[in-house]
Amino acid sequence: MAGMVESDKIDVGFSGKRCIHSRNCVLGDPHVFVPNAPGQWIHPEAASVEKIVAIAESCPSGAITYVRKDGGPQEQSPVVNTVRLRENGPLAVHAEIVLDGETSYRATLCRCGASESKPFCDGSHNKSGFAATGEPPLKDTP
Ligand code: SF4
Ligand code: FES
Repeated sequence: MAGMVESDKIDVGFSGKRCIHSRNCVLGDPHVFVPNAPGQWIHPEAASVEKIVAIAESCPSGAITYVRKDGGPQEQSPVVNTVRLRENGPLAVHAEIVLDGETSYRATLCRCGASESKPFCDGSHNKSGFAATGEPPLKDTP
């Protein structure tokens, strides 16, 4: 599922292919990003533009994007580029990313090798049982 939901002050885009189901959006504001809605689940008019921008930018995969129409600034590169390891999951990049001529600022990149949507994570690490916690293995205590 992909598309753009328009409203007077801001349009919100969603790319289902990119979503890693981290739920930052629905936990950020369930009136704007309505969980388990049978039809349209994004309602940009239900919160302030600033709030929608903040939630969109907290979407680690870049599945949620926005275009402001209120004269406010569009999304920009972060001051510091970061790559975060998600436990048993992808690499979450926050930086200016240019792929196939398209610029984006957030992406979750497959670390397990099983994604069918590379370079992006498609959630396959769950099915494939990918385990990389970063913790040393537990030792048996005598
Ligand atoms: S990856 Fe983005 S769109 Fe998907 S659940 Fe998380 S915050 Fe929402
Ligand atoms: S890390 Fe998620 S599919 Fe590979």
